[in-house]
Amino acid sequence: MTSRGLRGTTRLAGLVGWPVAHSRSPRLHNEWLRRYGIDGAYVPLPVPPGRLEVALRGLQASGFAGVNVTIPHKLEAFRLSDVLSDAARRCGSVNTLRFAPDGSIVGDSSDGQGFVDSVRAAGVDPSRGPALVLGAGGAARAIAAALQAARVQVHLANRTRARAEELAELLAEGGDGPSPRVLDWGDREAALGDQALLVNTTSIGMTGASEARSPCRLDQAPTGLVVCDIVYAPRVTPLLAEAGARGLRTVEGLGMLLHQARAGFADWFGVDPAVDAALFDLVGNDEGGTG
Ligand SMILES: NC(=O)c1ccc[n+]([C@@H]2O[C@H](COP(=O)([O-])OP(=O)(O)OC[C@H]3O[C@@H](n4cnc5c(N)ncnc54)[C@H](OP(=O)(O)O)[C@@H]3O)[C@@H](O)[C@H]2O)c1
Repeated sequence: MTSRGLRGTTRLAGLVGWPVAHSRSPRLHNEWLRRYGIDGAYVPLPVPPGRLEVALRGLQASGFAGVNVTIPHKLEAFRLSDVLSDAARRCGSVNTLRFAPDGSIVGDSSDGQGFVDSVRAAGVDPSRGPALVLGAGGAARAIAAALQAARVQVHLANRTRARAEELAELLAEGGDGPSPRVLDWGDREAALGDQALLVNTTSIGMTGASEARSPCRLDQAPTGLVVCDIVYAPRVTPLLAEAGARGLRTVEGLGMLLHQARAGFADWFGVDPAVDAALFDLVGNDEGGTG
């Protein structure tokens, strides 16, 4: 909506982060608002580190329906939430907040579900396993937890093995699916033979790196391996390019970005929005942006 369309009744939501200027989320949410004819707006909200609480209280007091939260505020948003979804509790972080009518802040983490939905939308059963997850950062945690909840045997390989072990322990304690197993980073390629799903959650392959690199060679990949990369800029990462050249099925990271946004939109505006090819084009044709 243009600013001329804003009224006193307009329902407001936005993205809180630092920085947020290049985010693709406003384009995505405002397109959904347009498509569904909803009197709403979604705005970028640059909030510096250390100012999240005061910003959230102000937005809540100003009648915002809720916000997405991105770097560097996801852990602090978890701490500030009065109510947490199961997914947020499993991840220890929050990317979607709803300001409830009783004054409470409800926190959710939609990355794991967004990943699972994007895999399903690509025609792949997300509960097929075992899965090898590369990385042990925030996104790995959300995805490994979602796969574990879908009863998938997850293997974790991270450059810093101690982080993978920490994550596996957390999920073994908190999750109700199979406990993840940890592999050495150096063993990831040899381990592919036993996997049905490979998920890159490291930042290797992102636009802006000095050289185009893949986090994993695929010469030992079985023919049925599905290769997912959550890096979405570029859309076809070096890993996905190699997988495609070998005839393996691939799932690109832009799908996760689009699907993880649905939960917040549904919470704030009351419609579960559709993800279609036109949205991939609209949101994907921007090499510089972030979530
Ligand atoms: N598609 C989506 O919707 C979506 C959502 C969230 C994130 N992402 C993307 O996912 C990526 C990770 O995000 P995050 O929030 O999880 O980041 P993070 O918490 O900072 O974790 C980064 C991970 O990448 C690994 N890594 C970084 N550089 C490496 C290298 N040179 N060699 C080996 N491993 C390396 C780190 O390993 P160490 O532990 O050893 O440092 C760590 O496991 C980013 O590219 C982000 O844009 C996409």
